[in-house]
Amino acid sequence: MPRKTFIAGNWKMNKTVDESVVLAKDVVAQVGDVSDVEVAICVPYTSLTEVARVIDGTSVKLGAQDVYWEESGAFTGKVSCEMLRSAGVEYVIVGHSEQRSYFGETDEAVNKKVHAVIGAGLHPIVCVGETLQEREDAVTDAVVARQVKAAYDNVSAADAKKTTIAYEPVWAIGTGKTATPEMAQEVHGTIRSLLADMYDQDTADSIVIQYGGSMKPANAKGLLEKPDIDGGLIGGAALNADTFRGVVLPE
Ligand code: G3H
Repeated sequence: MPRKTFIAGNWKMNKTVDESVVLAKDVVAQVGDVSDVEVAICVPYTSLTEVARVIDGTSVKLGAQDVYWEESGAFTGKVSCEMLRSAGVEYVIVGHSEQRSYFGETDEAVNKKVHAVIGAGLHPIVCVGETLQEREDAVTDAVVARQVKAAYDNVSAADAKKTTIAYEPVWAIGTGKTATPEMAQEVHGTIRSLLADMYDQDTADSIVIQYGGSMKPANAKGLLEKPDIDGGLIGGAALNADTFRGVVLPE
């Protein structure tokens, strides 16, 4: 079965509750009836329940930007998978480079989150990607392979099929520098081969691999035309419904 294109907006630490409702309504107006592309918006925790109400009955899905792996208890400041599920969340971003670099998220923590998210019946979007220094040192493949193998440690093939991978070269995030479609395809192809080695070709072929890093209407088509680029994890361009539509339905 061909993979369905999946575009997820990551609003990051932007939008109050009221602002989120306005943007979510705009997103619904622009892409709320799109069925041939999977569309999700990953909003701040504080906006989840209100945005869930806005997108209810549309094709837009709800995502969260992080989670903690424990089920409940004395973990001040943390939010569990069950809490997210009860708010209407279907997708959870894990291992985003901003979590890894600013908040010390380790490969081990990413793996725990992947297990917890799948265990709760939700779908992780597993972020991987190299820094500028790592690209210049020509270790991109090794870094991405380490991140993917760690994230999927002890994850079965059946569960791996419930996941999405987002390849986000760190140097392209929020910088306006996009990997060329060729550069991105090369890494996406490497990730797909790795998944085939870790699991089997059928599993590798069924996992959606998004690109993330300054993806916008002007470059979305070229990226999405590549055989192993199945979607996008969109930051800045997701904060405006018109530009987000331009990525979901690029011309
Ligand atoms: O999660 C999204 C990525 O970090 C990309 O962000 O589109 O603002 O570069 P960006």
